[in-house]
Amino acid sequence: MSKLWGGRFTKQTDQLVEEYTASINFDKELAMEDIQGSLAHVTMLGKCDILPAEDVQKITEGLLKVRDRIQRGEQEFAVGDEDIHMNIEKALIDEIGPVGGKLHTGRSRNDQVATDMHLYLRKRVVEFVDLLQKLQAALIGQAKENLDTIVPGYTHLQRAQPILFAHHLMAYVSMFGRDIERLQDSYKRIDTLPLGAGALAGTTFAIDRLYTAELLNFGRVYENSLDAVSDRDFIVEFLSGASLIMMHLSRLSEELILWSSTEFQFVELDDAFCTGSSIMPQKKNPDVPELVRGKTGRVYGNLVGLLTVLKSLPLAYNKDMQEDKEGMFDTVKTLQGALQLFAPMIGTMKVRKERMRRAVDQDFSNATDIADFLVGKGLPFRQAHEVIGKTVLYCIQQNKFLLDLTLEEFQQFSPLFDDRIYEVLQPEQVVNARNVYGGTATGQVTAAITRAEVDLSRTAEWVAEYQEKSR
Ligand code: ARG
Repeated sequence: MSKLWGGRFTKQTDQLVEEYTASINFDKELAMEDIQGSLAHVTMLGKCDILPAEDVQKITEGLLKVRDRIQRGEQEFAVGDEDIHMNIEKALIDEIGPVGGKLHTGRSRNDQVATDMHLYLRKRVVEFVDLLQKLQAALIGQAKENLDTIVPGYTHLQRAQPILFAHHLMAYVSMFGRDIERLQDSYKRIDTLPLGAGALAGTTFAIDRLYTAELLNFGRVYENSLDAVSDRDFIVEFLSGASLIMMHLSRLSEELILWSSTEFQFVELDDAFCTGSSIMPQKKNPDVPELVRGKTGRVYGNLVGLLTVLKSLPLAYNKDMQEDKEGMFDTVKTLQGALQLFAPMIGTMKVRKERMRRAVDQDFSNATDIADFLVGKGLPFRQAHEVIGKTVLYCIQQNKFLLDLTLEEFQQFSPLFDDRIYEVLQPEQVVNARNVYGGTATGQVTAAITRAEVDLSRTAEWVAEYQEKSR
């Protein structure tokens, strides 16, 4: 088979080498972006009088035909043509004849592939902001339904202080909010066009890079041609943003798995999001959160993999860089799967308020509040802590909870106790006493939800605007 670069060679490529070096089996994912970049490139070549208008027209029409064939799934790709760029160029030449060979004027596969990936990730980043926003909306929806639901809050997975379940859910809304900001920020750097850098040094043709950037809706072009073709920071940034998203999803997954266990029974995931056991008929397994937790590993792996590929590469392009793609595609797929499932899974989750309440009534998570009560009576906090520690120990020995103690029993530990502690110890009181910005008091959580909803509508506007820009 003749190669597009075959002129300098006297022998055929070894069959195994051909298979080993080809990327078409995975970079065909970039077909649409490759054609999008080529259409802009050839338009620019025409505008700069590098190609005559009739050639530009033929090439444009040819590219559109190839694009249609690919979209209909009718275009065959060949390993012998190595990658998506040469497969499409070959298809174009088959379609319109040797004039198709003019498309690659003033361009290299090195700036071409980088352009394709910028175009590809630009769209994905907008998609992920949209998916994250939908997940936030589902979490906020549940939070609103659970403004009166009190659960134990944990540290060390030991009951610590009671909190609103809404407050717990809103913590994840904040986490995904940072993920959204990170993706939005990364957009700036993805939105930089490498095309026109040529193989590494620029090109001898009088091209207009800014015009190509305008056609492709890029905010700017790379400053330095070597950097343009060897930069993969934007992919690393994406993988690192994706790793954080997966880490957050994995922490939430872990909680969902715990909460839906018989030991907790705090929530029940909808049947549609669970699976059964082939042997144990009673089982309803939280496979989705388990898999999300498991798949977090491969996303981290993809990040570390690419960082390692890049770490000692001399400038500019090296074939090693072809290894940037599979991890990126895999991450996109993994993240899409997780985020698409998570929003409806959270939205349909049944919250077992009565189980949560029982947990709160049967623990010592109100202990800090009686310590604070004694502090209010003038006792130094350290001494109050000691008094309550002894009181709790007494309760444990007597098999009682704090609210079960009589005032006389309390007063054995400190004469400062009075009737008001029974009010102070009520879970609602304990929760609402934390009336500090960002705290769990009902008023604070309600305000946090209102602020999150404002952010949510801003994110929705951003998505609408950038869906247009990244097209
Ligand atoms: N398939 C290649 C890649 O993904 C395209 C760039 C090839 N450039 C080259 N000089 N061989 O990296």
